[in-house]
Amino acid sequence: MNIIWKKTSRQFHLYNDRISYIIAVAPSGELSNIYFGKRIHDREDFSYVIFRMGMPNIAVDADTETYSMELNRQEYPSFGTTDFGTSAFEVETSNGSCVSSFVYKSHSIFSGKRAIPGLPATYASDSEAKTLEVELVDEQAQMTLLLSYTIFEKYPVIARHARFINAGNADVKLTKALSCCIDLPDQDYEMVQFTGAWARERVPEIRKITRGTVSIESKRGISSADFNPFMIIKRPGTDDFAGDAYGFSFVYSGNFLGMAQGNTYGRLRILMGINPERFTWLLRAGDTFETPEVVIAHTDRGLNDLSQTYHRLYNNNLVRGRWKNQTRPILNNNWEATFMDFTEESILKIAAKAKEAGVELFVLDDGWFGERNDDFAGLGDWVENPRKLPQGMAGLSRKIEAMGLKFGFWIEPEMVNPNSNLYRRHPEWVLAVPGRKSSLGRHQLVLDFSREEVVDYIFGMLYKVINGASISYIKWDMNRPLTEVFSTGCSANEQGMVYHKYILGVYRLYSKLIEAFPDILFESCSSGGNRFDAGMLYYAPQAWCSDNTDAIDRLRIQYGSSYGYPIVSIGSHVSAVPNQQTGRRVSIATRANVAYFGTFGYELDLNEISPGEFEEVKAQIEFMKQHRQLLQYGDFYRLRSPFETDQTAWMVVSEDKKKAIVGFYCMKSNVNTLPGSIRLAGLDGDTLYRMEGVEYYGDELMNMGITLSQFYKKGFTISEDYSSFVTVIDAI
Ligand code: GLA
Repeated sequence: MNIIWKKTSRQFHLYNDRISYIIAVAPSGELSNIYFGKRIHDREDFSYVIFRMGMPNIAVDADTETYSMELNRQEYPSFGTTDFGTSAFEVETSNGSCVSSFVYKSHSIFSGKRAIPGLPATYASDSEAKTLEVELVDEQAQMTLLLSYTIFEKYPVIARHARFINAGNADVKLTKALSCCIDLPDQDYEMVQFTGAWARERVPEIRKITRGTVSIESKRGISSADFNPFMIIKRPGTDDFAGDAYGFSFVYSGNFLGMAQGNTYGRLRILMGINPERFTWLLRAGDTFETPEVVIAHTDRGLNDLSQTYHRLYNNNLVRGRWKNQTRPILNNNWEATFMDFTEESILKIAAKAKEAGVELFVLDDGWFGERNDDFAGLGDWVENPRKLPQGMAGLSRKIEAMGLKFGFWIEPEMVNPNSNLYRRHPEWVLAVPGRKSSLGRHQLVLDFSREEVVDYIFGMLYKVINGASISYIKWDMNRPLTEVFSTGCSANEQGMVYHKYILGVYRLYSKLIEAFPDILFESCSSGGNRFDAGMLYYAPQAWCSDNTDAIDRLRIQYGSSYGYPIVSIGSHVSAVPNQQTGRRVSIATRANVAYFGTFGYELDLNEISPGEFEEVKAQIEFMKQHRQLLQYGDFYRLRSPFETDQTAWMVVSEDKKKAIVGFYCMKSNVNTLPGSIRLAGLDGDTLYRMEGVEYYGDELMNMGITLSQFYKKGFTISEDYSSFVTVIDAI
């Protein structure tokens, strides 16, 4: 890994074993992209890549009359001069002009990586990464722009973000400040987006890229299940096993925009950042604004490799604290078992059975506070309901711990019900336009987290509950999008800042809680997977993947989630049948076979299942305890897509390739067809492995594949809906 600055040609080459990223100071003084892709040899001067028209062109000055930005590739295109594509940012100066031109002034190269104040971001020690910061200035606007690029030693990854500084005396407005731009030299690509809605999150969908724009976005105030803030730009032939692709992962949890735009000259522009719609940041003299980070990865080896890059990077350089690289406790959550209708006694009964089964952590979900007996009341009143918890959280947590279980509970700190003491006391603390009707979502309003005092107040209430009790885990929920976004804490010309300030407030509350209680394991949730993003993983190392707990639907949801997020971050549970979302009845074996590939736990009352099933549950928990290091941290391979076929399969392989676990699932039976085979991946071709008592070479399993009829007696058959089979493969 290194970053070279070539003084004469004024070019930078960032490279590691797998990638090269080459930037030039263009004839116009702005930064131009020369190349980003598989590692290439260095040379003193790559400027032959820069295109000049044989005849005069639209140019900013006479010296560069044959050079036009629209014919070339930009690093961070500005609005208003010779690039006519979508700009990465816009600065409105005091005279109303939005034209800007930031030209190279200086740069610094240093080991490691700087944090972005108030925002989540990847981090790296001095030996793990190098960073280039290029300083550009617009003299007229009296603005400085710093573009930051970090290259990691071990990963084919560049992390980018931008910093704006108002160095003048007048206020300016940033009306757009995306995090990155990558211009590619041709348009023979497709975009893979991860779309969905509540209970059907992160469906990979492929869109053709041509001239014009394809985009994904959120305007919900959260990253959303509509479009996950992650996209892949790939060659049409690229699949999970081979081919070129770029990943763009936004380390942010609010409104965003991701787009791919082909111009008429064959250039493909990729942009990602905070959604410019309803974003205006007022920069007073001396103020700084930093964009969130985009983590850009490249592969020339297919999408499993791209995903593994994100899995490793996020586990090692994004997740922090006590739970970094730790296997996760097997939990039992009471939500689908009781909803809000519980007493301390009924909770203890569920917990006792969970303990008997081998569960490690009991989680008390919604309904323990205020007047929270249904979802019409109580949010905002983070004080125990004495009728349900007579000795408070402290009493319950100690009783559960005395059973030998860890204990955690549910919160939804960003919300308030109009029917709550908090709202009656502070109606001005919600996001709402004065005099205008506010839309309710699940009978609740959103607290104005752009105001520091609101965040501090909620922190104070939660601190009291947590501090008095014995708490190992918190599930942080967020159950409605933001609407009527207006803050009484901001002036009229600051209202464009509220969406982003809200997210900064969410991050601040997370930071305060983590600082106060560093051992707590946080799990983020947003009606399931509405805020499953890299930003959240910085604070909460795992996420409630979906409210849809049906094992067959989960195959798709977890498969889709695995493209951008580590397996250990995917909250996955066994719930009761018939499933509460789909009505489907799936065996307890298949429910666990799906949930193993995630954090694993139970979302039901184990007193309610048959004695036979309870024995199965005990064995499942044993299996998970024995293999969770591999299941949660092994190299994950998608083998067959549940979106394309009726059978799906995936596997994990240990780093030393000595052990693997494969899951096969039949989603829909096929009468009178042959079962076929599935080829495994990631093993060592020359190693002899044992699977179900039979020996095979790795190359046999990976090239010839496994004949699926082998597993017919073991639980899996393509002629039975929802049958499945999980097997362990060991090197001999
Ligand atoms: C959301 C979550 C659920 C549960 C309920 C509680 O829907 O996704 O898991 O916690 O809230 O109200």
